[in-house]
Amino acid sequence: MGEIVRLQKYIAMCGIASRRAGEKLISDGEVFVNGKKVTEQGIKVEIGADKVTVSGKPIKPVQKNYYIMLNKPIGYVSTAKDQFDRPAVTDLTKDEIKARLFPVGRLDYDTEGLLLMTNDGDFAYKITHPKHNVEKTYIAVLNRGITAAALNKLRRGVTLSDGFVTSPAEVSIIDAKSGQSIVKITIHEGKNRQVRRMFESVGLKVDSLKRISISGVELGNLPVGRWRHLTSHEISKLK
Ligand code: URA
Repeated sequence: MGEIVRLQKYIAMCGIASRRAGEKLISDGEVFVNGKKVTEQGIKVEIGADKVTVSGKPIKPVQKNYYIMLNKPIGYVSTAKDQFDRPAVTDLTKDEIKARLFPVGRLDYDTEGLLLMTNDGDFAYKITHPKHNVEKTYIAVLNRGITAAALNKLRRGVTLSDGFVTSPAEVSIIDAKSGQSIVKITIHEGKNRQVRRMFESVGLKVDSLKRISISGVELGNLPVGRWRHLTSHEISKLK
């Protein structure tokens, strides 16, 4: 269900007139809702469902589209609402952006890093649709050293516990200490907990996971918990 607003507010949201001037259009008999003239003030309409015309012309809310990146902290869910009432990524943007943003894809509760957020449904759909093979790069800290054999398996593609076969991934070692290794991995799908499960399939556990880029758009040095608008160049890269 769409948001329900007063008719004069709706007229203002469509960029037709101020609320006050909208009230005058209503009392002048210029406004029709679902084909019926409305002259009384205060009736409510549902955005996206009710059809409103002013002086015979249909009107629609002007939507400003937002495209932002957030450095998601660990301990936040990337859905707008959570059944356990845990903090949500939208809590980090809602004071400054009033539009209803939603996350583009997901990051696990215990994963940090680059999360795109938008109110543009088409944009979100394109980025998350499997057929677009959007590249996502992560830094994973593993519980022990990774062998050449494991690297090669991941590079070729592995079979996850549910039978899904991953496409070839780019994997490189960033740092290898005794007892731990830090690995950069780029994947092209977005299955649930995919990176963690890929490493599991070669006998490794991911101790921490951070996404650092999506389709060439880099998290850079954006601090954890902060967000910024994407540049037009970044938006066009993603589109
Ligand atoms: N892969 C994972 O395992 N977790 C994420 O959050 C993203 C990719």
